[in-house]
Amino acid sequence: MVSAYTLLCCPLCKGDIDKTLKCSSCGERYGLMEGVYVMIRPKLSHKEWRWNRSGFSKEKMAESAQQYKSYVNKETREAKKIWLNEMNFYIDNFQGFVADIATGLGGMFETLLKSKAPFLPIATDVDPNVLVWTKKKMEEKYSKESLFVASDAKHFALKNDILNYATSLAGLNNISHTVLALKEVYRALKPGGKFVAMSSFFEENSNSAKLARQHNLERAFIEKYLISDLTEVGFKDVKANMVASAIWAENPMDLLPVAGDTQYFAIIEAEK
Ligand SMILES: C[S@@+](CC[C@H](N)C(=O)[O-])C[C@H]1O[C@@H](n2cnc3c(N)ncnc32)[C@H](O)[C@@H]1O
Ligand SMILES: [Zn+2]
Repeated sequence: MVSAYTLLCCPLCKGDIDKTLKCSSCGERYGLMEGVYVMIRPKLSHKEWRWNRSGFSKEKMAESAQQYKSYVNKETREAKKIWLNEMNFYIDNFQGFVADIATGLGGMFETLLKSKAPFLPIATDVDPNVLVWTKKKMEEKYSKESLFVASDAKHFALKNDILNYATSLAGLNNISHTVLALKEVYRALKPGGKFVAMSSFFEENSNSAKLARQHNLERAFIEKYLISDLTEVGFKDVKANMVASAIWAENPMDLLPVAGDTQYFAIIEAEK
């Protein structure tokens, strides 16, 4: 069993964390909520996304999953299947410590837990409540050792040079001012460590790109911007492997894309 505190750092000053989850540099105290390490400083992260807590019941979750599914057209469903299959080839080579950025309800995390490759998956999300829910759900099905850490990707609570891999399913597409998160992922990766993530893109002149810009999400959704930001942050061998595309159908449950626009599904690869 890995002791979580040996991997964690203070999101505020990046100091070491002791066994009681206190920062040994600035003295800030962190906590544990139903097995989820809560490494959030409200002052730093209060503007980030929050799930509606009243939605965390089996019935409500199943209902909204069903509703969401009803809006997704066949071509998007098929493109997503290809995308996930492609990701599995990368996951087969994962080893060591692997952080999943913006785990949410655990679409990617479930794939990590299913993998037989020898690595420790670390779920991370800015919202502790969603992690408590996802942890319970995953523990009913999987026995692979894992860690759950509530952490803002822009003020990441994992130590420098500690991760072998960082991954995500559409995490970058959900984090505004993405470049701040890219810097933190870079910091936490070991030299030679890799960021391998599922991300989607739009055309630069699309209505979706315009809407993304209004929400400060544009840099992650335009391929050339994301590649340039990853390179700027220090990553080398940056690649976007486009594996599928599909025209998006009207979906009131998702902000983006705009209906009628083509969404491109890619695997991003970048090395520290
Ligand atoms: C819809 S999920 C993405 C799908 C998810 N990765 C999966 O595999 O199922 C988006 C998540 O991003 C999280 N998020 C938003 N801003 C964040 C931030 N600054 N740091 C970490 N997570 C963030 C939200 O809390 C939400 O759970
Ligand atoms: Zn500190």
